[in-house]
Amino acid sequence: MSAPLRVLVTGAAGQIGYSIVIRIADGTVFGKDQAVQLVLLDVPQCATVLEGVVFELQDCALPTLHSVEAVTDVQQAFTGVDYAFLVGAMPRREGMERKDLLAANVRIFKAQGKALADFAKPTTKVIVVGNPANTNAFIAAKYAAGKVPARNFSAMTRLDHNRALGQLALKTGTTIGDVKNVIIWGNHSSTQFPDVTHATIKNQPAATVVNDNAFLQGAFISTVQKRGAVIIEKRKLSSAMSAAKAACDHIHDWHFGTKAGEFVSMAVPSDGSYGIPQGLVFSFPVTIDAATKEWKIVQGLTFDDFAKGKIAATTKELEEERDDALKACDDASI
Ligand code: NAI
Repeated sequence: MSAPLRVLVTGAAGQIGYSIVIRIADGTVFGKDQAVQLVLLDVPQCATVLEGVVFELQDCALPTLHSVEAVTDVQQAFTGVDYAFLVGAMPRREGMERKDLLAANVRIFKAQGKALADFAKPTTKVIVVGNPANTNAFIAAKYAAGKVPARNFSAMTRLDHNRALGQLALKTGTTIGDVKNVIIWGNHSSTQFPDVTHATIKNQPAATVVNDNAFLQGAFISTVQKRGAVIIEKRKLSSAMSAAKAACDHIHDWHFGTKAGEFVSMAVPSDGSYGIPQGLVFSFPVTIDAATKEWKIVQGLTFDDFAKGKIAATTKELEEERDDALKACDDASI
């Protein structure tokens, strides 16, 4: 068993938290030979719930779980962490606009960015799940600058990526393993662009196999874009099981690397690729090198006018969110 990795989950008393901790603790994310020290953070009002989660994890009798601690103190939570799953945020409820949540979440992610800078390892890798995820990651990276590099911050669009895989498999009567290289561009919101231009199904171009352009440019995109809202409408709660699974896929691939010839979608600070403004946390197709654990944005992909329009719309939304968040940061009360 390798020396334990210290892994933080924030919002661990919440519904995604409940689904995610078992996968981290049981070796699904970091492997069956890797011990994990799990740190669970939530707000003080949830201390008792957290304790219940700790008891359940102890009762799972997991060989990979070196230790588990429940904390409500930010310094204790962030000290020495190798990986941080930043899930804790105010979730969007039915009928609530993302913008309504922005100011409250800026406050949380500014404080957590500072805590990462002050207490975490400089090599810490961060996934932000809490919405608005891209902009929260942007804010956390801004306040961790100088200690934790911006490229160690990411936001989750893997759930959208997985939803796109699922829809293509359903449409073509294939299985998930047959579908590869879908791309989610942009924001984890209804402006995201699920793109199948470079996707394959059983090694054939997805567009050829699907053979229904109206579907690919219509129902497919809107189903993926609006899936989160539909699930809230039906469950009265946001996606939790699928969100937890996607966060684990994201960190698993960051830790172990992507498979040869395959890419995954991950929101990362733009390096200017594809004309996306530098620093904007934008979902791109990435490959990850197993040895260095560094992501690289897939280069050289081409866009038609349809794709260009979609990418422009999600870029604009992200720029607006970023500007609103920066304004909120300047507010003395935040
Ligand atoms: P939840 O409400 O069940 O749990 C959130 C937890 O975070 C609560 O226990 C709350 O006390 C805690 N929390 C709030 N502020 C905190 C802070 N400052 N520090 C530590 N913990 C804090 O919500 P759920 O369903 O688990 O969702 C969590 C977040 O994930 C939401 O923002 C939701 O919108 C987002 N989400 C993102 C997805 C994505 O694809 N990026 C998909 C699904 C949900």
